Amino acid sequence: MTGPNDRFLRACRRQKVDTTPVWLMRQAGRYLSEYRAVRERAGGFLTLCKTPELACEVTLQPVDLLGVDAAILFSDILVPLEAMGISLAFEEGEGPRLEPVRTETALEKLHVPDPVAETGFVMEAVRVIRRELSGRVPLVGFAGAPFTLASYAVEGGTSRNFRHVLGWMYGEPGSFRRLLDLMADTVILYLKAQVEAGAQAFQLFDTWAGVLSRRHYREFALPATAKVFGALKGLGVPMILYVNGSAPFLEEMALAGADVISVDWRVSLGEARERTRGAFALQGNLDPMALYAPRAVLQSEVARVLAEAPPAVLVFNLGHGVLPDTPRESAVALVEMVHAMGRKEI
Ligand code: CP3
Repeated sequence: MTGPNDRFLRACRRQKVDTTPVWLMRQAGRYLSEYRAVRERAGGFLTLCKTPELACEVTLQPVDLLGVDAAILFSDILVPLEAMGISLAFEEGEGPRLEPVRTETALEKLHVPDPVAETGFVMEAVRVIRRELSGRVPLVGFAGAPFTLASYAVEGGTSRNFRHVLGWMYGEPGSFRRLLDLMADTVILYLKAQVEAGAQAFQLFDTWAGVLSRRHYREFALPATAKVFGALKGLGVPMILYVNGSAPFLEEMALAGADVISVDWRVSLGEARERTRGAFALQGNLDPMALYAPRAVLQSEVARVLAEAPPAVLVFNLGHGVLPDTPRESAVALVEMVHAMGRKEI
C-alpha cells in the first residue's frame, strides 16, 4: 500500500498516492541549528560535502525534523566543476568562488571527470545515506544543468548580470556550445554514477537559465539539457527538471525529456499544466517568502497551490530553495499542512 515511503516516487510517476508528497529544495541548510553544528564540526562547507558520514547526517536531518517525503543528497552543484579542473572555494558569507574559464585555451584544459575516481566521496555518501535511510523515504540525487554550470564556470561565482557568460554566447556561439556539451557530458556520467550508487530519482537544477530569452533557451540551454535526459532515460528513475524563472519558456522546458517539471512561484501550477499539455508530474511551487508569513496566510497559500494541481501529479515543493533565516517552525508546519490538506484533496 502507498504511504510515506513511496508517495514521492509514485507521484513522480503519476500514480495514486495516500496524500501529496512534499520535500523542500535546500531542506538541509543553515536555517537548522543542527546543520550549523555539523558544518562547524566539519570545519567548512566543502569538507562537509566531502565527508560521507557527515553529509549523511545532514541529509537525514530534514527527514527526521520536518517529516519530508524525500531526502536529497547533501552536496553542491559546483562539486563536479572542481573535478573538471576549476578551482573552487566557499568563503564564509560570500558564496562560491571559482577560477573563471573565459577563453578557448582555458576550455581546452578542462576534462570530463570520472565520477567514481574523482568524486568518489559523493557516491560513497549516496551509499551511506541509502543504508541509513533503510527505506524510510527515497533518496534524490542531483546535478546542475549545463547552462547553470557554465554560468558558474565562466563568471567565477554568482553574478549580477552574467556579462561574461552571455558575452561568450553572443560572441563565440560555436565554442560556447562546446562548453555546454562538456558540461552535459560531465553531468551524464556524474548522475549515472549517483543512480548506480543508489539514488532513486534525480533533479537537474537550472538556477540561472531564467536570464535567457526564450530564443536563447531554445538554442543553447535546451539542447544541452535534453542531451542529459536523453542519455539517462534508460536508468528508469524519475528525472526532474527545475528551471528558476522558466515562465517565458515552459513549452520548451516540456521538450527536454524530463518526467517531472519543477516550476517557481511566478506561474500558477494550473498555467504550467496547460502549457505543458498535462503530460508531466509537476513539482512546486510555493514562494519561499510565504514561510515568513503568519501561519494563517501560509495555510491559505498551501491550499491554493494544492488546488491548482490535480491529485496524484503533484510533488509539493517550494519555487526555489529555503533561505537561511527561514523560521524552522514554518517549515515544520508547511509539511504538516501539505500532508493534512493533501489527503483531503484526494
Ligand atoms: O537541497 C539540499 O538540501 C541539498 C543540498 C544542496 C546544496 N546546494 C547545499 C548548499 C543543493 C541541492 C544545492 C544546489 C545548489 N548549489 C544550487 C542550485 C539550487 C539553487 O539554489 O538554485 C546552486 C545555485 C548552488 C551554488 C551555491 N552553493 C551557492 C550560490 C551557495 C552560496 C549561497 C548560500 O546559500 O550560501 C552555495 C552554498 C551551499 N550549498 C550551502 C548549502 C547548504 C550553504 C553553505 C553553508 O554556508 O553552510
